[in-house]
Amino acid sequence: MPSILPGPAASKDAIRLALQSWPDVDRYLQSCKGIIVPLGSTEQHGPTGAIGTDALTAEAVALELGQLSGVLVTPVQAFGMAEHHLGFAGTMSLQPATLLAVMHDLVMSLATHGFERILVVNGHGGNIATTKAAFAQAYGTAASRGLEVAPRLRCRLANWFMAGPVMRRARELYGDREGQHATPSEIAVTLHLHDSLINKQRSLPEPAPCGSIHGPADFRRRYPDGRMGSDPFLARPEHGHELLNTAAKALREDLENFLAAS
Ligand code: NI
Repeated sequence: MPSILPGPAASKDAIRLALQSWPDVDRYLQSCKGIIVPLGSTEQHGPTGAIGTDALTAEAVALELGQLSGVLVTPVQAFGMAEHHLGFAGTMSLQPATLLAVMHDLVMSLATHGFERILVVNGHGGNIATTKAAFAQAYGTAASRGLEVAPRLRCRLANWFMAGPVMRRARELYGDREGQHATPSEIAVTLHLHDSLINKQRSLPEPAPCGSIHGPADFRRRYPDGRMGSDPFLARPEHGHELLNTAAKALREDLENFLAAS
């Protein structure tokens, strides 16, 4: 069976929505109704990790996936639900209701133009519940507005760091030092993307163990340096390169099934 995907693109620029004209998008929609929306967060990632880690990684995975598949990629939504990280300088968070409204409006914009399959490539666990709620709300809005695509509109959340092959490789590389926040796997991807971050890497004391997440003051008390059970010093740029490709390949299969499903 021939693939439903448009096929590999010559460059990342070729699949970036931000670099298309509106007639380009009209033409694209005649052969493909799918689009990829990277979703990140702008939040502390421990004493050595970049604040933009979740947005940088989600966008990089989305662009890699876009190039592999030929599916368009929107600009990254770099702010997510990071209320629990507000005890650390530099964190910028959307409240759940705000993120819900943002994701709903972005989905509705795309659906209005005829996009029927919207894959959100997510880099942050705190976005999951709210993004799923936004999808449910968007289906209702599409139906109540009588959008032509309403019966065929499907949204899907793909958490790149939770893809099976990514989790297996992270486990092989880092064992239980992967932890749950400021993980060596996500930090490795940022080191691959930005040489300047390599200078921040240094060995850190034993991290606080993984546990529950509540408000910002409680988070800071439980996880004083921002890490949850992780040792980001284990991260290497070459791991990041490999994890990025592993994520894109795993999500390509996901995307193909998503576009083909009824
Ligand atoms: Ni993260």
